[in-house]
Amino acid sequence: MQIKIDDKTFEPYLLKSKIEARVAAIGQQIKIDYKDKQPVFLGVLSGSFFFMADLLKQTALDVEISFVKLASYEGVRSSGKMELQLSIHTDLKNRDVIIVEDIVDTGHTLKCLLDLIYQEKPASVRVCSLLYKPAACQVQFDELHYIGFEIPNEFVLGYGLDYNDKGRNLRDIYRLASI
Ligand code: IMP
Repeated sequence: MQIKIDDKTFEPYLLKSKIEARVAAIGQQIKIDYKDKQPVFLGVLSGSFFFMADLLKQTALDVEISFVKLASYEGVRSSGKMELQLSIHTDLKNRDVIIVEDIVDTGHTLKCLLDLIYQEKPASVRVCSLLYKPAACQVQFDELHYIGFEIPNEFVLGYGLDYNDKGRNLRDIYRLASI
């Protein structure tokens, strides 16, 4: 069923059951990859909060959780402007860091965050992003290790992702409707 948020109409794209299955699979993989380690999960607010919570329920590891907030988005287009609104409070030195992102679009936000994190001298850094838009991404990331879904260059919302700060609490992911 289509939904209308402000001036835009959205249609269902990735349903809850499909997201759940994929998140569970990634969580299990992280559990294997980080066995006997104590990684720091660094969620990028606000979009990653649903994903972060569901992912962590799957891993059952001895983890530390922290959040960071970087703003780069206005409306449906990435502005390229970056602002650190909430800084990293956990000591990342010699830690295995897993950055949890909702989506990697142009890659500007992630690039900026990685630059900041490497200054903290972590032992390792991997990125886990629910969504990735390869056609939009302008940066090559070796750290982008776990990807939920590769999607076309379309605007999406739901499951943490917003349009004008609305729609984050939708359980499914929607995309802009073609009509
Ligand atoms: P990037 O810097 O262009 O990679 O954009 C990263 C941030 O922009 C994400 O963390 C989201 O908050 C936001 N973003 C990018 N694409 C979308 C989208 O399709 N829907 C909602 N938010 C998006």
